[in-house]
Amino acid sequence: MPTGPKTIGIVTILGCFNADLVFAGHRLPQMGETIMGSNFSIHAGGKGSNQAIAARRAGAEVRLITALGKDSFADDARSLYAKEGISDQFIQASDLHPTGTAFVFVEDGSGENAIIVGPGAASHLGAADIETVRPAFEGTDVFLSQNEVPIAAVQRGLALARENGATTLFNPAPAGDFENSFLALCDIVTPNRLEASALANIEVATADDAQKAARIICERGAGSVVITLGADGALYFDSNSATHIAAPKIDRIVDTTGAGDAFNGAFAAALAAGNDRISAIRFATAAGTLAVTKSGAAPSMPRRTDIDALNARKKN
Ligand code: RIB
Repeated sequence: MPTGPKTIGIVTILGCFNADLVFAGHRLPQMGETIMGSNFSIHAGGKGSNQAIAARRAGAEVRLITALGKDSFADDARSLYAKEGISDQFIQASDLHPTGTAFVFVEDGSGENAIIVGPGAASHLGAADIETVRPAFEGTDVFLSQNEVPIAAVQRGLALARENGATTLFNPAPAGDFENSFLALCDIVTPNRLEASALANIEVATADDAQKAARIICERGAGSVVITLGADGALYFDSNSATHIAAPKIDRIVDTTGAGDAFNGAFAAALAAGNDRISAIRFATAAGTLAVTKSGAAPSMPRRTDIDALNARKKN
């Protein structure tokens, strides 16, 4: 029986597209050192863009608000969106700044990654730019953003989403700290362990730590918190409850890049389709798990049929 979203919801995402320049190797070089890698590839990436693709493949109608340059990476992004069925209506083209890029190191064997983002056009989006795309918020069910675009733009997006009656999600990646008044605009904040640690100002190593951090983040203003715990699943916390959701088991990790994005995009799609939060987290956890079984960020965003199949397997 399908466990994923039942109907199509609308998800509006504000975020960044990056062309990911992916270097695989046995370790990162030290300063002043050159080493030979084991592979190189270029993939579509950027947290907002990855999440948009994940939400779309999970079954949502997706409106993506971003900015690209006028270069070949922008052409690649637009072709990808056309192929995926994501409209470019809310995508700005900058004359002044290039499309975002990212250096992505993927460690051979573990599949763990280290990333440096080369800020591009989307890193110049401001609150005024969000005002120009007000129609992107009309009738939307869920709004989702991250910390890869300027916080003033995200803050305006969250406020406009609230005005339009949408559920607001904030994925605080890359890690940072935010004003309590900003967190109060978020119905659900979705950090990983590191990001939860930065928000709560405590170390998050154990399940108990995760719960303590989630409580602090809620006390700071967030409506609720989902802490993603990798292979350990996720913790949902709100003023009434704390629930742990286990992750499905898999045989091999290929590349962890974009796993958090798969989770966030699928979570937004499942919520937008009217699922309750725990079912949506279960669906999203399966999406995040599937993403680590393939290389690349955008290419590894799973489709709803595969997410449902993995969830069904977990129950048997
Ligand atoms: O979350 C993974 C993403 O982070 C990569 O695609 C990279 O572009 C950075 O934004």
